[in-house]
Order: sequence, then C-alpha cells, then structure tokens
Amino acid sequence: MNFIPAPLEGKVAIVTGGSRGIGAVIAETLARHGCTHIAITYNSNKAQAEVTEKKIASINSKIKTFTLKTDVCDAECGRYTVEESLKGLGVDHIDIMVSCAALAVFSTFQTADAMTKEHWDTMMTADAWTPFALARESAKVMPEGGRIILISAAASRGANGDPWIAYSASKAAMESVCRNLAAIYGITKTDVTVNSISVGAIHSEVLQHAFDT
Ligand SMILES: NC(=O)c1ccc[n+]([C@@H]2O[C@H](COP(=O)([O-])OP(=O)(O)OC[C@H]3O[C@@H](n4cnc5c(N)ncnc54)[C@H](OP(=O)(O)O)[C@@H]3O)[C@@H](O)[C@H]2O)c1
Repeated sequence: MNFIPAPLEGKVAIVTGGSRGIGAVIAETLARHGCTHIAITYNSNKAQAEVTEKKIASINSKIKTFTLKTDVCDAECGRYTVEESLKGLGVDHIDIMVSCAALAVFSTFQTADAMTKEHWDTMMTADAWTPFALARESAKVMPEGGRIILISAAASRGANGDPWIAYSASKAAMESVCRNLAAIYGITKTDVTVNSISVGAIHSEVLQHAFDT
C-alpha cells in the first residue's frame, strides 16, 4: 500500500480567530495535514471555539489543542497569545502562526467624516499592530522551516468608499508589515517565511453581518 505522508506531520500551529469562519477552516486544514499541536483563539464565543476543537479531534484524536480568549484590540495580545499557547500546548516552539482574527465588523466601521482618532487607533492596533506582534513573538520561538501567515483583505488595495477607510488602511499596513518582516527574517533567520493572503469575499458570519446591515 502507498502512503502519502502528511506534509505537516508533528508541526505546532497557532491560528488566531480559529473559532469561526476562515480561521476555523484553516485550523481544521492544518489538522488534516498532520499538525500535532494546534492553539486557536477566540474573543467571546467559547462554545464555537470548542466546536472547532471537536472538529479537530474528529480528524485526529491525538492532536493536542488549546483554546485561548484574546482581544486583538489589546496591545499585549501578540505577546500574550504566543506565551500562553506555548504553555497551553506544552511546547517550546511554534512552527506555523496564522494571524486571522481581526476587527472586521462592518456595522462598527466609521465613515471618513465621522472618523475619530480613537476608532482609527483601535483599528490600527487590532489589524496591524497585533498581527505584527504575533509575527514577531512567534518568530522568536520559530525553528527552521517556520511559516508566518497574515490574513489580509482585498479591501486593502481598493477604493472602497465609506465606511471602509480605517479597515482598508489597517490591512494595507499589515501587508507592509508582512513584506518588511519577510525581508528582515530572510536575512536574520533560516528558512522562515512571512506571507499574507489577501482574501476576497468569503461567506462567513462577518460577511453575512455586512449584508444584513
Ligand atoms: N469573510 C470575508 O469575506 C473576508 C474578506 C476579506 C478578508 N477577511 C479577513 O479574514 C479574516 C477572518 O474573517 P472571517 O470572515 O472568517 O471572520 P469571522 O467569521 O467573523 O471570524 C472572526 C474570528 O475572529 C475572532 N475575533 C473577532 N473579534 C475579535 C477580537 N476583538 N479579538 C480577538 N478575536 C476576535 C472571532 O472570535 P469569536 O468567535 O469569539 O467572535 C472569530 O474567531 C479577518 O482577518 C478578515 O479581515 C474576510
């Protein structure tokens, strides 16, 4: 009999926003491809994080999972997520870090005219600083072959109109973070890559919410 080896056999992963939507599918896909340790984060929906955990267990009951409540608006989120994931999974390194959680709820976005500095700063913290901090803290404990993936949005490059300006700008900043970290780690680390995936419209709860608003 021929076996196709799982390409991610034995790998340790963090997926932020792994409780629902795109993050949950990424976590399940990593499980299917052989990851043995997977940490997922959520913000308020613990029950949904447990659903993802159960789906991972149904793929392979030997996979160790850990769920963590975080808030991407908290400036310490990146450091906290990596530190707690290492402890929760009982490991000393992270092979794959996917930053997927974001502030992306359309109804909370402000128009250009109404934009407050507070809202702008919150969006930049959540969708640019936190992905940067997650990448940097993961890179500190990432062995050769490590992968950092930042989930962006096609909105980062569009002329989207109201009320997308702060979300689009924060995702554009995140993409710049990605390119710069790729250049930095390309020199200072061995075989650690940094990529962002620019997502188009995907039918998740956040998109349905935008349609309903
Ligand atoms: N769906 C699309 O069409 C689309 C398009 C372009 C880009 N994207 C990007 O893709 C990523 C995932 O989007 P999605 O559609 O899968 O979203 P989603 O279904 O709404 O899932 C969002 C995830 O992020 C978590 N989250 C929400 N607010 C958070 C906060 N303040 N702190 C920490 N975690 C938080 C949620 O946790 P809870 O379950 O606890 O709420 C959940 O795990 C985002 O980066 C988004 O910008 C999506």
